[in-house]
Amino acid sequence: MKAFVHQGDAIVYTDVKEPRVDQGMVKVKLQTAGLNHRDLNIPKRRGSQPEPLVLGSDGAGTIEEIGEGVSSFKIGDEVILNPGLGWYDNSEAPPEGFEILGMPDNGTFAEYIVLSAEHVEKKPAFLTWEEAGVLALASLTGFRALFTKGNLQPGQTLFIPGAGSGVATFLIQFAKVKGARVLVSSRSGKKREKALELGADRAIDTNVDWREALSDENIDLVIDSVGRATFNRSLDVLKKGGRIVSFGATTEDEININIRKFFYGQYQLFGSTMGSREELRDMLRFIEEHNIHPVVGNTFALKEAQAAFDYLQEGKQFGKVALRIASTD
Ligand SMILES: NC(=O)c1ccc[n+]([C@@H]2O[C@H](COP(=O)([O-])OP(=O)(O)OC[C@H]3O[C@@H](n4cnc5c(N)ncnc54)[C@H](OP(=O)(O)O)[C@@H]3O)[C@@H](O)[C@H]2O)c1
Repeated sequence: MKAFVHQGDAIVYTDVKEPRVDQGMVKVKLQTAGLNHRDLNIPKRRGSQPEPLVLGSDGAGTIEEIGEGVSSFKIGDEVILNPGLGWYDNSEAPPEGFEILGMPDNGTFAEYIVLSAEHVEKKPAFLTWEEAGVLALASLTGFRALFTKGNLQPGQTLFIPGAGSGVATFLIQFAKVKGARVLVSSRSGKKREKALELGADRAIDTNVDWREALSDENIDLVIDSVGRATFNRSLDVLKKGGRIVSFGATTEDEININIRKFFYGQYQLFGSTMGSREELRDMLRFIEEHNIHPVVGNTFALKEAQAAFDYLQEGKQFGKVALRIASTD
């Protein structure tokens, strides 16, 4: 089958062996897949490896084959994949052994994937294939960060640095439905405009002085996944006693913080990462109830996956980047 893999030191579109269906597993013929920032980092994290690894965490498709013992699906069912492997019930942190689809297990940038039926959910019927293919990882991450960890309440003010990110577009939509005031920053004027169209109440330039630009705001919650470039600036605009949630570090992991300023301010810092299957199902009900569609900024064919990676690496996206698989010639 055709797949986009990391092998040796390169990422390539190539032929790989079709996976076999074992007990408890299902084989899904992928229609679409979605890129995440994580996919960009996997080749660096793996280093040079002779074995090909199919990249990709998000995907949607139809059930093609069913392993022994699986009764929850039938052939032809339309499904999405849950990329959070081994995390079923809500808990403070992921359980031991939690992995994200796409490393070490083969991922979704391929014509077929075989995975445990426990990690497959019915595709929401109101979403297109592209929307379903980009949904799970980013929306689940946003849902947990915003509600489980950030405890966002109606009427509160949320600030999101980096409005163009895949997760940020979900955060804007989820927070507006919850009745929050949503402020965002972006380095791009076009992305600021799009964030306002999506429902943000205010969009500022990432490069201005935030304390000045947001001096009239009372920010209850910041969700910062940009990392080093913005973390301290985010703390500077958070109200005293406010909450900050971090689940990413697009611009480097290590940050110096002034601990005295932090404890005098009585800030609350929460780490978050993806979410449990229970939260994924809550999120699926939430988007259906509120008719929330993922923002698909651009779509590429599977064979053009390298161009999709470049597009994401250059930070050109607003929302999610999709890969079309089934129609690839
Ligand atoms: N822990 C988890 O479970 C989890 C899950 C999902 C994502 N993540 C992490 O969360 C982050 C966001 O993921 P994503 O897939 O949504 O990312 P993405 O689509 O690649 O977006 C990255 C965003 O970061 C902003 N940014 C990049 N460089 C910046 C800089 N120098 N200064 C200010 N802003 C900058 C950009 O904002 P503008 O272009 O708007 O300025 C861009 O929108 C990534 O680090 C990802 O690895 C973690």
